[in-house]
Amino acid sequence: MCGIVGYVSRTCSPRPLQIVMEGLSRMEYRGYDSAGVALAHEGAPGDPDGPATGGLTVVRAVGKLANLRSALEQADMPPSRSAIGHTRWATHGQPTVANAHPHVSRDGRLALVHNGIIENADALRAELREAGIVPVSDTDTEVVVHLLDLAFHDAGTPSWEGDLPGLGGEDLRTGRALVSAMLAVTPRLQGTYTLLALSEEVPGLLVAARRSSPLVVGVGEGENFLGSDALAFAEHTTDAVEVGQDQVVAVTSEGVVVLDRGGRPVEPRHFSADFAHDRADKEGWPTFMEKEIHEQPAAIAATLAGRCDADGRLALDEVRIPEAILRGADKVVVVACGTAFYAGLVARYAIEHWCRIPVEVELASEFRYRDPVVTEKTLVVAISQSGETMDTIMAIRHAREQGAKVVAIVNTPGSTISRESDAVLLTHAGPEIAVASTKAFTAQITATYILGLYLAQIRGNKFSDEIQDYMDKLALVPDKVQRILDRAESVRQVARTMTGATSVIYLGRHVGYPVALEGALKLKELCYIHAEGFAAGELKHGPIALIDEGQPVIVVVPTPRRPELHRKVLSNIQEVRTRGARTIVVAEEGDSSVDAYSEVVFRIPPAPTLYLPLLDVVPLQLFACELAGAMGHDVDQPRNLAKSVTVE
Ligand code: F6R
Repeated sequence: MCGIVGYVSRTCSPRPLQIVMEGLSRMEYRGYDSAGVALAHEGAPGDPDGPATGGLTVVRAVGKLANLRSALEQADMPPSRSAIGHTRWATHGQPTVANAHPHVSRDGRLALVHNGIIENADALRAELREAGIVPVSDTDTEVVVHLLDLAFHDAGTPSWEGDLPGLGGEDLRTGRALVSAMLAVTPRLQGTYTLLALSEEVPGLLVAARRSSPLVVGVGEGENFLGSDALAFAEHTTDAVEVGQDQVVAVTSEGVVVLDRGGRPVEPRHFSADFAHDRADKEGWPTFMEKEIHEQPAAIAATLAGRCDADGRLALDEVRIPEAILRGADKVVVVACGTAFYAGLVARYAIEHWCRIPVEVELASEFRYRDPVVTEKTLVVAISQSGETMDTIMAIRHAREQGAKVVAIVNTPGSTISRESDAVLLTHAGPEIAVASTKAFTAQITATYILGLYLAQIRGNKFSDEIQDYMDKLALVPDKVQRILDRAESVRQVARTMTGATSVIYLGRHVGYPVALEGALKLKELCYIHAEGFAAGELKHGPIALIDEGQPVIVVVPTPRRPELHRKVLSNIQEVRTRGARTIVVAEEGDSSVDAYSEVVFRIPPAPTLYLPLLDVVPLQLFACELAGAMGHDVDQPRNLAKSVTVE
């Protein structure tokens, strides 16, 4: 939640504003309640492009980034050395201009953006009031800018006396004071934060800090970048530096100084952000979501690629947990949120079937609060597209405190979850920009299959040739997804007739059940229509009371090659149909048994039962996406949502 961008260069120019706005447009998926920028410019003698006097220019606007763009067009924006920007998902305080970031100190010379929640903001606010400082916004962030300003202008000599590359003389002294202030203030903050500060007194310096919220630095030539994730700057550099928990980072045009909480220098850890470089624009698609739905064959194939050695054995170099531990695990616990949680529900069917090990799947937000039974023999699998979901991070921390080993399935290398886990299995879906998850979901399911088969191999549940056979069949899935996508127009046509729907019920059985949950979630998120997914077998235990004349019911039908599942779901369709429901059915090609009871059938190619979720979900994604568009909703940025939920 909330996207942060920062940029600093050697010279004064319009570039900092351009880079920050470009970064914000890539970060907008993280929140779009308001946005703002601050530029620091200097009155450099002899600089023909520079303004006559130094200063800080702040522009903020409510709503999407387009509003900030219009506000900037009206404003006379000076060239600058550096800039910071923020796109907000409101936590404390309504989305108003006063609550938008950057927040500034009373003298307007220091600006700060923040992602996270300062839990002791009330106490700190009271302290500021006693000192005569009255906040002008309702945000927790504003408290921090005032504290930082007080510490910055504390008359004493700076407590931190390290080098700041490229700064000398008065700039170095002022820069050290700003770094010292950040080191002094952050220990006083409870909660989570990424903070990024900029002062007109030292425009060639950005100072940032993070605790349990994301921040990465991009390293350029004579210019450096900061972002909530590498997408913010991937177009300009793929050389990225991690900022660890409770670290402070000082960034000038000439270098990056990473400090621990005591101000001691830490060797910067570089990683390549080339994964973020590609595919972060729409490439001709009307929406990111449509593009990402259509990228699923590639996302699944990329996640599968290179997993086997020359003998056909699965070789997951990333899973560095000793094989003895994986062999000795007595339980798998999957923790995740939202769509990733549904991927976990699918994984349970596969891992239990292949490995004969109990699998629990738990919402990460519930996990640690119920005192779960987790031991050194528990293997925790954390699934997350962003790798930054706070609930999942907290679940991982709790599990590791109990001695469990954690394998993370993440889509974002270098993310907090990947850093805090014992092993990482990357999904190679590429950046997912649309707020509602699509290709990450199918890539996550694919990764859990790989992990399940790997565990089966290590634990001796399956022979190599069986595993090879499962992998071979999985490798056929991308083409089958493509076949569904080639017929997308038939799904779109149906969706366009549903703009008047106020409630839709989704039914599924076995692996079709999590697909029903995911289909319903997509409809809620994108179309703001009440939708619920039920296990088809539960229908008669209550939900059937909802069925009335014309109630749309979408049913995910199992393959007829599993007759014990298939015939039961067929009965369910008849039961709702008899009570007047409009039935839309997802069924295998050639399964004519559904025809008599379905108003519409979306066809999917045959595949092994465990792999069907990768296919069944595709028409449901297309359906929700098209319906949202037909209803006039913003498909990529649905109301109230943020891509990355970095607060609990
Ligand atoms: C729904 C959706 C969310 C995320 C959830 C977890 O379309 O995108 O439900 O799946 O917020 O996010 P990650 O996977 O980033 O941990």
